[in-house]
Amino acid sequence: MTSILHFADIHFGVEDAAALARVDATIEKLSPDVSVISGDITQTGSAVEFVAAAQWISTLSGPKIITAGNHDTPMYGLIDRIIKPFDRYEEHIAPHDAGVFEDDNVIIQSLNTSRGIQMKLDWSVGVVNLNDLDEKIDRFGQSDWGKLRFLNVHHPFIYPPESPLQKTTDNGPEGLRRLADGHCDAVLSGHVHIPYVIERNPGGSELLSVSAGTLSTRRRGNKPSFNHIQVDADEVVITMVEFTGEEYVRSETFRKARRELSAWRRDGPREMQKDATVLDTRT
Ligand SMILES: [Fe+2]
Repeated sequence: MTSILHFADIHFGVEDAAALARVDATIEKLSPDVSVISGDITQTGSAVEFVAAAQWISTLSGPKIITAGNHDTPMYGLIDRIIKPFDRYEEHIAPHDAGVFEDDNVIIQSLNTSRGIQMKLDWSVGVVNLNDLDEKIDRFGQSDWGKLRFLNVHHPFIYPPESPLQKTTDNGPEGLRRLADGHCDAVLSGHVHIPYVIERNPGGSELLSVSAGTLSTRRRGNKPSFNHIQVDADEVVITMVEFTGEEYVRSETFRKARRELSAWRRDGPREMQKDATVLDTRT
């Protein structure tokens, strides 16, 4: 059994202090093998916020797979944002997209979808660099076929209809198609501050879109939450763990048999290349 904690959008600076104060004991009970953080660790990308974030992250036991969010670039200081948008992130948190977690059940990597500035008015929009994505897919391919392949990003590649934010991630649909062809099993993301699990290709080779909620005060009508993902030899179980104001409780749970996921299709990789199904990219 692999126990994965999946956090997003803690936004140190506007974090939910009560939720964070109680989360440590809950985390300990879940015995994580790895913690995944899907970006927006800070609110304004300031050094003070990064110091607080790094201190909290250091309390998580075990390996961490982390990526930056659009809030993790300097909000104040345009020159820094242009010239060195992720220097503070790398100084306090981790080198960009660093690290691969791999055990008997899963392999997890990160891909940065955030940018300091962009040639458009809205700099918060996600971007999938397809060359970088192909490198991640190649790395998945170097691992044992039977391991589930999870990619950690900040922005959803495609926004779900229930999202309070509706934007378009550059190269998002094409990125999902490449991930499906590369037999990735799940994209773990944040950004929209609501938790969900979406099956992107029902009836075929599944690619799950898994979003964690937020432990910040920017909750868009939801309670503070994070995800607990458990993977054993037979199935994946994704549980939203929600803070009531007093305690953390297990809320909605999603279950999926491993044999129904991409990397477990019975014909194996060679056959999968031949009959890769068209991904359902409806939003
Ligand atoms: Fe956020």
